[in-house]
Amino acid sequence: MTAQLIDGNAIAKAIHDELTQEVAALKARGVTPGLATVLVGDNTASQTYVRMKQKRCGEVGIYSEGHELPANVTQEEVEALVRKLNADPAINGILVQLPLPDHLDEEAILSAISLEKDVDGFHPINIGRLAMKGREALFAPCTPAGVIELLDRTGLPIAGKEAVVLGRSNIVGLPVSMLLLKRDATVTICHSRSRDLPAITRRADILVAAVGRAEMVKADWVKPGAVVIDVGINRVDDPSVKRGYRLVGDVDFESVKEVAGWLTPVPGGVGPMTIAMLLKNTVTAAKRACK
Ligand code: GUN
Repeated sequence: MTAQLIDGNAIAKAIHDELTQEVAALKARGVTPGLATVLVGDNTASQTYVRMKQKRCGEVGIYSEGHELPANVTQEEVEALVRKLNADPAINGILVQLPLPDHLDEEAILSAISLEKDVDGFHPINIGRLAMKGREALFAPCTPAGVIELLDRTGLPIAGKEAVVLGRSNIVGLPVSMLLLKRDATVTICHSRSRDLPAITRRADILVAAVGRAEMVKADWVKPGAVVIDVGINRVDDPSVKRGYRLVGDVDFESVKEVAGWLTPVPGGVGPMTIAMLLKNTVTAAKRACK
């Protein structure tokens, strides 16, 4: 059996096209959605992600401004910037790129973001609502929301399915588990300390791999026909290519594609969806602000 590929690039492009039209309609009414990014320090991966987010904003017509702060910035300075952006009517969404340097209090900074501008969905109140039955977060975190959107737009049902999430990070594993639960999946969260991981992941109708270990999920970890969503982005050395490394997911693509029913590639699966959902959240914030 060979899995069908879930094309994140194509699905993200469809969302970008929809948003481009929506932004044009908003601009015709005098409303330009605006996103502010806050980048602290010189983490090269974070710099790349933030640059890409700004580029995509420009492509769909969203105004964006980047704020870069040195690695030794104080807690008070970051919080003051966030408060300034909260008060700026040109800004509908504020994104503080994570991780932050160790000396900063991440929770306090994320808590300082106005709930209505929390387009990354990491404000503790939004996360708390995500974790509660019958409550709705104003925004869901972008990568987890992108996973759900990939399933929905591919027509793959979630309700009643056995979903297994491998990984328990604040950015992906925990929030995607909550979103799957809200959509009536039966959810198991497993992680590096779980016993007999393959036996757990083999139960999954929907397997979300978000553990950050290159090609950890092998063919015998996967139930035949399962939907496998690979959130991992790992660098592995590869002297045969010019830049010296290649990107692989948490799933061993070559072996798992022979077992799974559906599979996301890396790159080109979940990655582009993170930005698409950020843009979508920013447009939603702008629409709410002008109601
Ligand atoms: N770091 C890794 N993923 C993300 C994300 O989706 N948002 C932010 N702010 N930081 C991240």
